[in-house]
Amino acid sequence: MSKTITGFSKFSKGEKINWLANNFFSDKEQGIKTIHQYWNSNEKLQQIHDEFIENTISNFYIPYAIAPNFIINNKPYTIPMAVEESSVVAAASLVAKFWGTRGGFKAEVLSTVKIGQVHFMYEGDFTDLEDYFNSVKTKLISSTNSITQNMRKRGGGILDIELRDKTTELDNYFQLHVTFETMDSMGANFINSCLETIANAFKKEDIQIIMSILSNYVPECLVRAEVSCKVEDFFDINPKHFAEKFIQAVNIANAEPHRAVTHNKGIMNGIDAVVLATGNDFRAVEAGAHAYASKSGRYKSLTNAKVENGIFTFWIEIPLALGTVGGLTKLHPLAKLSLDILQNPSAKELMQIVAVAGLAQNFAALKALTTTGIQQGHMKMHLMNILNQLEANLHEKKVITDKFQGKTVSYNDIAAALHEMRI
Ligand code: HMG
Repeated sequence: MSKTITGFSKFSKGEKINWLANNFFSDKEQGIKTIHQYWNSNEKLQQIHDEFIENTISNFYIPYAIAPNFIINNKPYTIPMAVEESSVVAAASLVAKFWGTRGGFKAEVLSTVKIGQVHFMYEGDFTDLEDYFNSVKTKLISSTNSITQNMRKRGGGILDIELRDKTTELDNYFQLHVTFETMDSMGANFINSCLETIANAFKKEDIQIIMSILSNYVPECLVRAEVSCKVEDFFDINPKHFAEKFIQAVNIANAEPHRAVTHNKGIMNGIDAVVLATGNDFRAVEAGAHAYASKSGRYKSLTNAKVENGIFTFWIEIPLALGTVGGLTKLHPLAKLSLDILQNPSAKELMQIVAVAGLAQNFAALKALTTTGIQQGHMKMHLMNILNQLEANLHEKKVITDKFQGKTVSYNDIAAALHEMRI
């Protein structure tokens, strides 16, 4: 048996599983059973999933859940979330209710510009390069006409091409910095196809094209979401004190990168869950969001909070390149259903919804952190995972859940209580 292989991609699915089982599974029978258990019994549906990626052998489930009661720009939304971490959906739902009684969320898209770049090396005179670029700029744009035709009809396309001198960062390095409007699509394939065509049209002897690719850093594809209320409406007890503590928690994230990373992780709990549920690219969104959090030169919070004239305001500004057409959005049946639940939003509307999910998540975490602590609620939601890990039956789950109602639980407490029940 060999642990490396040539031609694996040409194997049938069954052959791939057998090779894996023979070489890696500690319990061959159980391993194969687990893989089969997660196949969809609907062969056509399974085939769609098989063909999303390469060398597929099974499906990896992530729970798909619903956070109801969001009011965004006075419109009610029920938000689908795909996430494996307990308490995220409960927190989103709790915050939706909380702000629903305080005017809801307000969101606005600030800009929708996407970016792609042709990176190249050039050793000659910059003025000659500039002259050449200016002489071919129109041709570069028209070379993409067949690709951009439909996008232009929808109101999008290439916005501009700029020649950028990057030689202070790297010797001989220049780029064509291209901006795009991709309307309701995320636009990755469209942008990359345009860039490769532009690069071909730009080629000449003294220009060495290195690569052409979109950028996932989209600081001009930006959305802002906020909540606000009178300070006295913030909490029932001592609202001024809690508003101050809440703002200090945000200030700490702005002052201290270790805290900022965790703070922003909490935001991404909500963002990624909706991005994933709607079939969008969460890695692209993650990379862009963290780059944006570092735009000042230091990694900071993606949210901000203030009290001004007796009004508490909490807001997020985040770059989000999302699509509601193309990619997986219509191909994955659950992504399609998610968009249906969201009342088939435009990409701009989806940007607002996703930003709100991030803001809500951060609000829940900061509210818990600055009041009860995070463990009480988190462990309350995590209780079922612990009980499943300890293989509790339905009766045991009911008794233990009742016993620990309102208490901060730990794995050891649950294990001890279960052990007591079983002797
Ligand atoms: P609670 O007040 O104990 O909840 O909060 P409740 O039982 O009184 O129920 C109130 C509402 O909460 C419910 O209303 C639901 O909306 C929601 P209802 O539906 O009854 O009309 N809710 C639930 N929804 C669905 N399923 C449930 C459920 N339970 C309550 N089982 C809660 C409990 C966990 C919501 C609260 O303590 C909380 O928000 N905690 C914060 C949790 C959190 O932020 N989790 C994220 C993961 S932790 C993390 O990774 C990020 C972090 O490190 C980030 C950072 O440091 O900034 C913390």
